[in-house]
Amino acid sequence: MDQPQTVGQLTDALRSGGYLADRGLSTALFVALSLQRPLLLEGEVGVGKTEVAKVLATVFGRRLIRLQCYEGIDTNQALYEWDYARQMLHIRALSANQVADDAAVAKVFGPQFLLERPLLEAVRAGDRAVLLIDEVDRSDDEFEAFLLEVLSDFQISIPEIGTVTAPSPPIVVLTSNRTRELHDALKRRCMYHWVDYPSAEREVEIVLVRAPDVSAALTAQVVAAVHRLRELDLAKPPGVAETIDWARTLDLLGESGLNAGNAADTLGAVVKERDDLELVRENLEEITSGG
Ligand SMILES: Nc1ncnc2c1ncn2[C@@H]1O[C@H](COP(=O)(O)OP(=O)(O)OP(=O)(O)O)[C@@H](O)[C@H]1O
Ligand SMILES: [Mg+2]
Repeated sequence: MDQPQTVGQLTDALRSGGYLADRGLSTALFVALSLQRPLLLEGEVGVGKTEVAKVLATVFGRRLIRLQCYEGIDTNQALYEWDYARQMLHIRALSANQVADDAAVAKVFGPQFLLERPLLEAVRAGDRAVLLIDEVDRSDDEFEAFLLEVLSDFQISIPEIGTVTAPSPPIVVLTSNRTRELHDALKRRCMYHWVDYPSAEREVEIVLVRAPDVSAALTAQVVAAVHRLRELDLAKPPGVAETIDWARTLDLLGESGLNAGNAADTLGAVVKERDDLELVRENLEEITSGG
């Protein structure tokens, strides 16, 4: 599919890829695509931030290039590295053959020894790619500043080789779980959207799309229970991914409905913190009562 002409078209395209986006998300994405701006998605854990980028790549027939951020990530891991081992072998071969002319030596820092990392890959791929910069809040300030630079001109200069420029920019999606506040400068470059938990109705739809074998009745009960779990003061409230897992788990065990008994047996699919488990166990009757 080419550039969508309307928000509705984009929503339909995402749906065809198994992603149900609400109007707010579709609109933010549509504007980001149209204006060629990066889209920054913040939200709770497991609400479908990463998945948007994956589905976008699929439905637009683009390559997904993922830069997973983590504490201590630096520019080498994001841009490019030299393949030292192969450079050494090349140098050995040169000296064994007693080759020392300038051209041969210069080749040691040639493109064939360059290991592309996600950002260079994305700049080279341009509009044939979706660049997912995942969990940017885990990286540190300096890395964020560096990202800002790359995102503003999609140009990377490699001293030994020259400047690589994106013919036209890739689609860029950044995600953050908000473990720290991102800088205004980065936010200003991006379209921004807060991804909320879906409504119960929407979440049932999502589960049925992702786990079509599970019955609608069981799904509705699981979703209702998950929504009650989210109202408790849990350290790790369940995301949509957990809802899907829970429904699948119960279905796998041949359960056709949710009750305090089978919920207790399968809590590991939704609640993954010891303290949370205790709190949930004390309230299981209430959580699983009614649909
Ligand atoms: N709107 C949606 N439509 C379809 N599937 C969804 C939707 N939201 C979430 N999911 C499902 O939930 C799973 C988890 O989503 P994803 O990994 O994208 O969450 P996330 O927000 O990136 O979470 P984290 O913060 O843990 O990285 C996806 O694999 C997908 O199956
Ligand atoms: Mg994610």
